[in-house]
Amino acid sequence: MNPLHWPVRMHIASVGVSKFCFLFSLAFCALLLLLIPNLQPPARQVDLPQPRPQVRPAQAGPSHHVGVPAVSVHTGETRSATELNRSSAGQGRSIKTEGSRDDIISPKRGMDSERGALSGGKGGRLSGSRSWDLLELKDIFIAVKTTRKYHKSRLELLIQTWISQAIEQTYVFTDGEDKELRMRTGVNLINTNCSAAHTRQALCCKMSVEYDKFIESQKKWFCHVDDDNYVILPSLLRLLSSYHHSQDVYLGRPSLDHPIEAAERVKSDGSVSVKFWFATGGAGFCISRGLALKMSPWASLGNFISTAEKIRLPDDCTIGYIIEALLEVTLTHTHVFHSHLENLQKLPTDTVLEQVTLSFGGFENRRNVVSIVGGFSLAEDPTRFKTVHCLLYPDTDWCPKLERRHRN
Ligand SMILES: *[C@@H]1O[C@H](CO)[C@@H](O)[C@H](O)[C@H]1NC(C)=O
Repeated sequence: MNPLHWPVRMHIASVGVSKFCFLFSLAFCALLLLLIPNLQPPARQVDLPQPRPQVRPAQAGPSHHVGVPAVSVHTGETRSATELNRSSAGQGRSIKTEGSRDDIISPKRGMDSERGALSGGKGGRLSGSRSWDLLELKDIFIAVKTTRKYHKSRLELLIQTWISQAIEQTYVFTDGEDKELRMRTGVNLINTNCSAAHTRQALCCKMSVEYDKFIESQKKWFCHVDDDNYVILPSLLRLLSSYHHSQDVYLGRPSLDHPIEAAERVKSDGSVSVKFWFATGGAGFCISRGLALKMSPWASLGNFISTAEKIRLPDDCTIGYIIEALLEVTLTHTHVFHSHLENLQKLPTDTVLEQVTLSFGGFENRRNVVSIVGGFSLAEDPTRFKTVHCLLYPDTDWCPKLERRHRN
């Protein structure tokens, strides 16, 4: 504006540029000097934030062995953090399946930590896995499906063996009254009032009652077995402890090596077909409470029977249909559940006690039993269930007392 100021301004400008350059280089040097000591510590601190990048792999991979020791001071926090890890892992289908396989491929690893926990736990790692394994046997609802004519020949053996170790949480679903058995053994016997016929309708009727009783029970896991299954309770607890009951978990042995295909008559008119896997009921299967609640529209209060009627498939297939086809949750394939349809003699003897369920016989093969030796001969214990039981619980009063025998 004022022309008089022109030269003054220009002078200031020309001086200013060189001055600015000088000041700038000074400032730059000062900044460099300041930065040099500052540049070094971050390189050293790389070691400190490392626990963070280590936690992330634990989130992606469902191995709890990695996640547990990371946080160990506050038990409450450990649990919630691990729960979050678990549920985020559960959202990826493939990740979940891989995790379960990992659990099965190396059953000994889990077993050792359980033994450690049972014996009181020595190191910090063991107490860590203990805080993770908060699942107890009483959290599992075990449904045994039977029929009146097998109360004596099959059910009594189960009550004498594994059910005696889980009498509170095991419920036997049958089709006839047996007050004598209930009074004598104290077993939870539920008369479903379903038909005793071995038809699809009768079997689905029992499964429907099993489902409703489980929902009513408030327990964390639903496991279904047949009256020719021995449940190895420590293995079952160990297997379920590697998941969380609020996740969508459906665990079992597929009876076929390919998915079953059925006409879709629930979501559509039956003109399209759906493919899905299902866990064979004869080997037993387990469902988390979180998933069971989601099944409610098609499974609760008699809806299970109408769902099964619509797709015209047996009870175990209908469970697979609801979970895989309707809820789009995948079956976690396990090989630690066994039915009488397998060749049980093929199970390596040293792995028998690590399985979750065992079975015996079959329609044609009475000699189809697990090969395990113990206190009972094949004639005394044709199913091998007593032998298995005495290896698991040697203090049981009817088990042969081998040590005493040696002493006498
Ligand atoms: C079966 O019928 C009896 C007698 O009517 C009844 O008390 C019982 O609750 C029924 N069982 C089920 C599971 O509905």
